[in-house]
Amino acid sequence: MNIEYTKERAIRLLRVEGVDLESLYREADSVRRKNMGDDVFIRGIVEFSNMCANNCLYCGIRASNKNVKRYTMGADEILDAAYAMAGSLQSTIVLQSGETPGLKDEELGEVIKRIKRETTLAVTVSAGNRPYETYRYWRECGMDRYLLRFETSDPALYDKLHPGSTLAERLKCLYSLQSLNVQTGSGFMIGVPGETIEMLADNILLCRKLDLDMIGIGPYIPHPRTPLGNEKNVYNGNPEIFFKAVAVLRIFNPDAHIPATTAFDAVFPGEGRNLALQRGANIFMPNNTPVAYRKDYLLYPGKPGVDESPDQSLNAAVLRIESLGRAVGKGPGHSIKSADKCRIRS
Ligand code: 5AD
Repeated sequence: MNIEYTKERAIRLLRVEGVDLESLYREADSVRRKNMGDDVFIRGIVEFSNMCANNCLYCGIRASNKNVKRYTMGADEILDAAYAMAGSLQSTIVLQSGETPGLKDEELGEVIKRIKRETTLAVTVSAGNRPYETYRYWRECGMDRYLLRFETSDPALYDKLHPGSTLAERLKCLYSLQSLNVQTGSGFMIGVPGETIEMLADNILLCRKLDLDMIGIGPYIPHPRTPLGNEKNVYNGNPEIFFKAVAVLRIFNPDAHIPATTAFDAVFPGEGRNLALQRGANIFMPNNTPVAYRKDYLLYPGKPGVDESPDQSLNAAVLRIESLGRAVGKGPGHSIKSADKCRIRS
């Protein structure tokens, strides 16, 4: 293994403080600029269904949380959200749901086809573990990308957090997506109960090993109506590590798209995502879910923007990007890793 990308180095970097911390952030920012440029691509998320069959111990929309009002947007509603995005600064629509989407595979497939036919948007789906055939079918419908976090690289911790599911199954899904030439995104939560700094380093190394096109990471935030609701983030009291993780992730994955994820703003209201963008991230994902549904898609408490309209969320994102002296990326912002993957309808 390349000496520069060892676990030891990752751990050392995750522990730096003082002037070394400043130089870690500077290095991450310069690796980002050199490989990804100064543009920040905006991808609009539409949380189209909060139905879920799973019971992940940390997640607010887990099946057993009877306090959640369940919804699924109709195909026309999703298409309306897509039409509203088309021609704006958002050139990718991210269709996200719980792991048992309220829409049937064919219904979502038709939505993907129509978005691809009727707009120039790139389409990302994020709807959990699915059979290879489903991924292949959605790919044939025009799906460009898929997001599926592995959450933790530690198999025993994965088992504990995800009843009835294994890390091996999750990874198999990621390999299926890659074999279908879908631009593949994954990632993990930072500080979930049971995590150690060694595991955090391994999470970063696993992202590198998977050679991901996109990597989303964000702080774990306890949700009161989950089994882990009383357990704090393991880095409670030292939230700087969330940003260190982004910086080390960037250094270890120079040419992956890395979003400044919403959870950073839940921990550092109004500035978390800006800081992430200055410490390695290059993507911003404003919420495009119709306001009526937003309060029902709370994976964790304190999620910002639940009262905003899609327009307001987009405008706020643009202002933030410009306030950092960066420009909004034009075009779909496909992966820069593989010429083949980038050729998908640009
Ligand atoms: N805190 C932070 N992130 C969470 N997610 C789910 N629940 C929480 C939580 N309590 C993240 C998971 C999932 C993504 C969509 O949201 O990493 O993959």
